[in-house]
This record gives sequence, structure tokens and C-alpha cells, in this order.
Amino acid sequence: MIELTLDQNDCLIVQFDILSDNPLHPLWLRERLSGEKYIDQNNLQRLYEPSLIDENLKIKDYYIKDQDLYLEFSDGAKGQFNINDIIKEISKTDVIPKKKTWKNNFNSLPTHNFENVLSNNKYLMQLLDDFQMYGFVLVTHLSKEEGTVIKFAEHFGPVRSTNFGKHFDVVSKPKANDLAYTNLGITAHTDNPYRKPIPGIQILHCIANDAKGGDSSLVDGFAVSEYLKFHYSEYYKILTETEILFKFTDKDVILENWGKLIELDNAKNFKQIRFSGRLDFVPCLQSQELKKFYKARNKLYHLYKSDEFKINFRLESGMLMMFDNHRILHGRTEYDLSTGHRHLQGCYIEHDSTEGKLRLLKKKMS
Ligand code: OGA
Ligand code: ZN
Repeated sequence: MIELTLDQNDCLIVQFDILSDNPLHPLWLRERLSGEKYIDQNNLQRLYEPSLIDENLKIKDYYIKDQDLYLEFSDGAKGQFNINDIIKEISKTDVIPKKKTWKNNFNSLPTHNFENVLSNNKYLMQLLDDFQMYGFVLVTHLSKEEGTVIKFAEHFGPVRSTNFGKHFDVVSKPKANDLAYTNLGITAHTDNPYRKPIPGIQILHCIANDAKGGDSSLVDGFAVSEYLKFHYSEYYKILTETEILFKFTDKDVILENWGKLIELDNAKNFKQIRFSGRLDFVPCLQSQELKKFYKARNKLYHLYKSDEFKINFRLESGMLMMFDNHRILHGRTEYDLSTGHRHLQGCYIEHDSTEGKLRLLKKKMS
């Protein structure tokens, strides 16, 4: 039998699991009542303003049966709660898997067959789990037709249009407004650090890759940041503190945004990395600072291109890669225009699409 008591602050103590150490405040419980008087059952949104609940509200009556807690409050409101749901919420349990940083040491790259993914949600869920953990997936058995990238993206959510359009064609063209649209090699970079906000997820679908060269690479920016933090803490410090200007200019628009090469959140966890030697402008800091910054950036560049961290593979026609543009850097080798045709189509979606889809699938399957 689970024991229930009220403490001196009128909070409920449930002697079970982590709840024993987490007294439950009457207002906190009251605003979680889920009956139809309180919550619209179609959209699960609250039908009243919780800020207006009496601040002196008390728990008037309480008992527990099986794993359900029954409560009545001093304002007459009542209802039941599942103990395990409360535990999950307090322990911030999330169905989204934690990120696993990686080096160039995969036995096999996370690769998914689109025919399976389309026919069975179990495979779609595995694809999304891999994407959350590794920050990228490769997908095979897609159509080779133009427009496939948009159809694929829209399985997850709305496409983020930019001044390049809803999708962009990565082909070599004269007077290209971006080096991606030439046959030059492109070292590891994140896309569009000059945008506000920076696109969350990039998808690149291969229509043709018949030229000599044009191989792809990916690097886990969080793994490199971890390494830097451990082995070069001075460099890490300056790269997590210095804001750089990123800039894109063409005949139609000038886009600018500032950001750190390694951005941390309030808890000092990795939030986002940015890297694009083509587009970055370091501010005119004091010379000692600049000296340190340039050393640090040089180290970062060499780590991003090192065989220890970078994976290399080739996108074949009918394949795509999807990667987290806030974590993973991508690049390609130069290709020889005289030896064949190369054409990718790309687009961007946002993190809430893939996370939102995964939460829904996990809820449906549980
Ligand atoms: C890009 C890009 C890589 C490639 O379009 O953003 O980096 O393989 N392309 O062409
Ligand atoms: Zn790119």
C-alpha cells in the first residue's frame, strides 16, 4: 500500500519511487486535472486560465487505488492522476533518444531502405531514432526523379523555403551564387550560418553522380567539440566565447548573422556548431585574442578534416542523406565535369518535425 501524507506546506507526499523526495504542490496538481471540465478532450488544451487558481488552494481529500491517485481540492475541483505519468513528468523522461557522439569508427553507417520505411512505421521509427542519436541517416531505394527530396521531406513536416527556393539544385553552373554550385571540392561546413534562424536539418538527394570525384563526407561537430574540450581547453574556451559574423551576398539579398563556432546552452551542453570558412568574418579583436582565436580555429579545421573524425562515402543515384545542420558538418570532394553528370537536390526542414513525428510514433506504438 502506498502511503500518502500532507506536509507542513500543504504538499502531498506519495511514498513511492522518486515521489517520496518530491512533495507535490496543490496548484501543480490542480492544473494537471484532465477531466473534460478542465481540458478540451479533442486538443488536450486547458479550458481555463491556471494563473487564476486560488493561490491558497489546499488538497481537501486524497486516496490511492492501484496506481491512481484520487484528489479533491478546496475549490471543489477533483479528479484522478496516474502515478507513473507523474513520475515520468518529474524525471523529465523523454522518448527522444539521447545523442551519441561518433568518430570515424562505424561498422556500418546508419542506412535505411525507403521502401521499408514507407511500408512500416516500425522502420520509420528506427530511422528517426538513428537520426536523433547520430545526427544523420543515409536512405536508399528512393526514386531518382527530381522533386523526390521534397516528397521525402514532407513525410516529416513542412519544408523551410529560403532565397534559394523550396529546394535547391546542387549542379555546377556558370556564375554560381554559391560555391556548392560549382565542381569545386567543399571542406566540412555547416549550411547557411548567415540565416536567422539557421536551418535545422538538411536533406540532400542524389539524382545523378556519374562524374569522377564528388564523394561525400560528414563529421560529428559535437564529437570534435568534446575532444577539443578535453585536449585543448584554451582553444575550446575561446571558440565557445567568440562571436563571428557570417555573411551571404548575391544580387538579390545580403544575409548576416552572428554566432559562435561552438555554442553552449545554459547548462554548458553543446547547443549548436557553426563552421564555414567560405563565409565567416572574425571581428577585429585585440591582437592577443586574435592570435589565440586563429590558432583555435586552425585546430578545429584540422580536426574536422581528420580521418579520426570524418566519414567518407558516396551518394549514388536514388540515395539521400539527412543530417542535423546544428551538429553535423558536411563536405564533398571536387568532381571532374568532363567525366559525367552530377546533380543533387537539397532542402531544409526543422528539428520539431522529426522530433514531433518520433514522439507521435512512439505514443502510437506503446
Ligand atoms: C550543399 C553542399 C555538397 C555536395 O549543397 O550545401 O554542401 O555534395 N553540397 O554537393
Ligand atoms: Zn553545404
